[in-house]
Amino acid sequence: MEVRENFNLKAFNTFGIDCYSKYFSTFESVDELKSLLEKFPNEKLLILGGGSNILFTERNFDGLVLYNQIKGFDIIDESDGFVSVKSGGGESWHQFVMKCLEQNYGGVENLSFIPGSVGASPMQNIGAYGVEIKDIFEKLEAFHIKTKEIHTFNKDKCEFAYRESVFKRKLKGQYIILNVTYRLTKKHHSLKTDYGAIKDELKKQNINSPTIQDISRVVISIRESKLPNPKEIGNAGSFFKNPIVSTDILVELQKHYAHVPNYPVSNDKVKLAAGWLIEKAGWKGKVFGNYGVHKKQALVLVNYGGAKGNDIYSLSEQIIQDIQEKFGVTLEREVNIL
Ligand code: FAD
Ligand code: EPU
Repeated sequence: MEVRENFNLKAFNTFGIDCYSKYFSTFESVDELKSLLEKFPNEKLLILGGGSNILFTERNFDGLVLYNQIKGFDIIDESDGFVSVKSGGGESWHQFVMKCLEQNYGGVENLSFIPGSVGASPMQNIGAYGVEIKDIFEKLEAFHIKTKEIHTFNKDKCEFAYRESVFKRKLKGQYIILNVTYRLTKKHHSLKTDYGAIKDELKKQNINSPTIQDISRVVISIRESKLPNPKEIGNAGSFFKNPIVSTDILVELQKHYAHVPNYPVSNDKVKLAAGWLIEKAGWKGKVFGNYGVHKKQALVLVNYGGAKGNDIYSLSEQIIQDIQEKFGVTLEREVNIL
């Protein structure tokens, strides 16, 4: 548990931005966490997982970065058809998914290949290809920074919504997620293959009765074909959320574009594809020196090497303004800005 000073976080954020933290330390247990907080009672804190959903906009982080390395993969309850798996928050999310699939535990397959840690997975209720973690979530334990108590959160208490949870809103900055328990199927898996790209890829590969492992493989190949690998091009996945708008806005858009992608949310609300809007506004593939908008996925802003967080943030401002002017739709950032 060595505390490093003036530590470069470049390798700890998938955007690959240079940012120096005043202090940096890993923690592998609650005891280590407690002793670090005792040693630095007044420092500003940043809890870091895989750094795959943050953008540093300052040259320095004037505080203590706590890098979560709490491990563990334990079965805490099991019946004929279900299993409850508790994972340490510092485990890699994708490795957790792979371990579940090795045991033939179902429910996580559509969420294969999402970067980051298990501890951050409830933060924005990660989702992909028709599944969100709320669909399989059982509970989590989190450390309350102020009282040093450990509190248990069930699904209701987490207030999950699309890319949202209570930890991103009301309780922002108050808790450190230590472990998460997911309830998975052991048999009679409920497969989610409705998402267009999954259906098409299964058909292409002539898979008529897919297993959970087949779905995982297909999801990985779709993701690899669209999303830039952060090891090659810095990025944090979707920079913006898909906006949820009134059906009036959709009707207006349909006057100009007959085939606007949209997904019903309620009677009078639809979710639009931010990537589609950004592409239609002409931003897709634009390069501005060492940063830009990804050429295969307009929702992903990229650092080609050496860009400053502020440049990427300014680009996101320009995109938000342009989409507002062109379509009357307000985009909201998904990435956490620091
Ligand atoms: P970090 O970036 O380290 O942290 C994110 C936020 O959570 C920060 O505010 C941090 O302080 C806080 N935090 C982290 N750990 C804890 C903890 N233990 N306790 C309390 N707070 C904590 N997301 C999706 O939902 N779906 C996708 O399909 C998807 N695809 C992606 C593809 C790529 C190529 C990339 C780079 C990102 C993608 N993301 C996706 C975003 C990202 O992977 C997820 O948001 C992921 O859960 C972030 O995990 P992390 O450990 O890297 O979090
Ligand atoms: N589209 C375009 N142009 C683009 C990108 C997308 O027209 O440049 C259109 C597509 O043709 C499609 C629609 O937009 O009709 C949706 O595209 P896609 O299926 O690629 O998904 P997305 O809405 O862009 C969301 C999530 C991803 C998640 C995928 C798969 C958000 C903000 N993003 O992307 O999550 O992996 O669906 O489920 O909800 C992330 O959160 O970081 C992330 C990558």
